[in-house]
Amino acid sequence: MPESTNQHRYPIHAIHAGIGLSVFKNASEASQVVATEIATLVRERASAGKPCVLGLATGSTPMGVYRELIRMHRDENLSLRNVVTFNLDEYFPMAPDAAQSYVRFMNENLFDHVDVLSENVHIPDGTIAEESVGKFCDDYESKIAAAGGIDLQLLGIGRTGHIGFNEPRSDADTVTRMVVLNSVTRNDAAENFDGLENVPHHAVTMGVQTILNAQRIRLMAYGEHKSAIVERTVCGDITESIPATFLQQHGDVRFLMDDAAASKLNLSNTSK
Ligand code: F6R
Repeated sequence: MPESTNQHRYPIHAIHAGIGLSVFKNASEASQVVATEIATLVRERASAGKPCVLGLATGSTPMGVYRELIRMHRDENLSLRNVVTFNLDEYFPMAPDAAQSYVRFMNENLFDHVDVLSENVHIPDGTIAEESVGKFCDDYESKIAAAGGIDLQLLGIGRTGHIGFNEPRSDADTVTRMVVLNSVTRNDAAENFDGLENVPHHAVTMGVQTILNAQRIRLMAYGEHKSAIVERTVCGDITESIPATFLQQHGDVRFLMDDAAASKLNLSNTSK
């Protein structure tokens, strides 16, 4: 059997509802494109003596990008010393060394393997006292602003249409805050937590507005289980019931998908 019987020439590019759509043969090719865009931006900024501010995501989706950045650091002299990072979210409460912690995820999957400076890394803190979360979130927004705003934001998408942990009913004006996780999201995380009862009910997340303020947004989606939410996000009306639909209002957003995630999009009806 040939690897793919599909007669498409990849990648397929289209635009729909203001969203750039790129379909790749597989997740690894899409990840390479995203990592190359990041590396180019980081190098451009470094040559200009400027920092590059990245908004980062966790979960299974961005892992290929991080693997590729690590490879470029090792084999192609890519330095991340001028990079400032802000992660989208963290469960609350969550100890940084816990198996499901996003701090641990980022260290193991990227930061421990590159030369990013620890003082330039920002991840919502799952250990603070509940009464201090509001102040922490305000400070997080201030730090993003002080860094000059996010140049490029990486996103995955949840089956609820969440971006970050902005679950349904998160409006376009939301900023970094504590949220209640949707039951679909908690169910999807149950395996990682060895059972639904261990999945936190809360998280701290950047808001929809925080995300929309980024200069560029690159959302990746892989697998058939993402196809329905990708279709509703790209083809549906803009609604707070599917926070990802707010991305239609952003001027520089691209979805990078594999065939399975794009399978419900009728790309022949989209304009180039
Ligand atoms: C993770 C995040 C979430 C995930 C989404 C998809 O930091 O903000 O929005 O991107 O839940 O998760 P995966 O990639 O595991 O399918």
